[in-house]
Amino acid sequence: MSIQTETPQTVKVWDPLVRVFHWSLVVTFFLAFITEDDWMNLHIQAGYAVALLIAFRLVWGVIGTRYARFSQFVKAPSAVFKYLGQMLTLKVPHHLGHNPAAAAMIVSLIVSIIMVSFTGMVIIAAQGQGPLAGTLFAGFNPEWMEEIHEFFANFTLLLVILHVAGVIVSSLLEGENLVKSMINGRKKYHSEGVDK
Ligand code: HEM
Repeated sequence: MSIQTETPQTVKVWDPLVRVFHWSLVVTFFLAFITEDDWMNLHIQAGYAVALLIAFRLVWGVIGTRYARFSQFVKAPSAVFKYLGQMLTLKVPHHLGHNPAAAAMIVSLIVSIIMVSFTGMVIIAAQGQGPLAGTLFAGFNPEWMEEIHEFFANFTLLLVILHVAGVIVSSLLEGENLVKSMINGRKKYHSEGVDK
């Protein structure tokens, strides 16, 4: 996809589906998180929504627009550590798409959310509910699954806190409001950027 330039300073980076995906994930993840004690039906519905959003993102990461593709932003661990080192020197190269550290966080978030969604579906499968009911997963020990489910839910929350901290630090280092970019889809154009 070619980049559509509407003003000289900014370019369209995040397509509408990426942005709707992101903010829907924020809402549904927190909804699932806060309803897990007393609102089990709502918790399960929010959990399904999270799982569907992640399933969509996995597909969109392969067939989506340029900066939505995993092949555009997922980098080897060496590139991630190099970028983290550059963050410590407060001098980072400009990326139009996700920078290597953000990308590693995004992959971690997606994997952790898959673990939460899968274990949640295994727990309810033991009660004959959900898409995994009647499969071999229904025979898994639900108490163990609850422990794993809770662990990954809390781990995801920890990742989210680090993710938001990373967004704030990157916004300061790059001189760009990245939260605004995730809302309007646009980022500043740098002629010396590494992935333009
Ligand atoms: C209010 C809290 C949040 C803010 C302000 C925020 C902000 C952002 C921003 C600015 C980006 C783009 C990063 C970049 O420029 O490279 C991003 C990406 C992302 N965030 Fe968040 N985020 C928040 C909460 C969450 C939560 C709760 C989750 C998951 C449970 C999450 C998952 C992701 C994912 C998966 C991406 C990649 C987007 C994509 O390419 O599809 N975020 N977030």
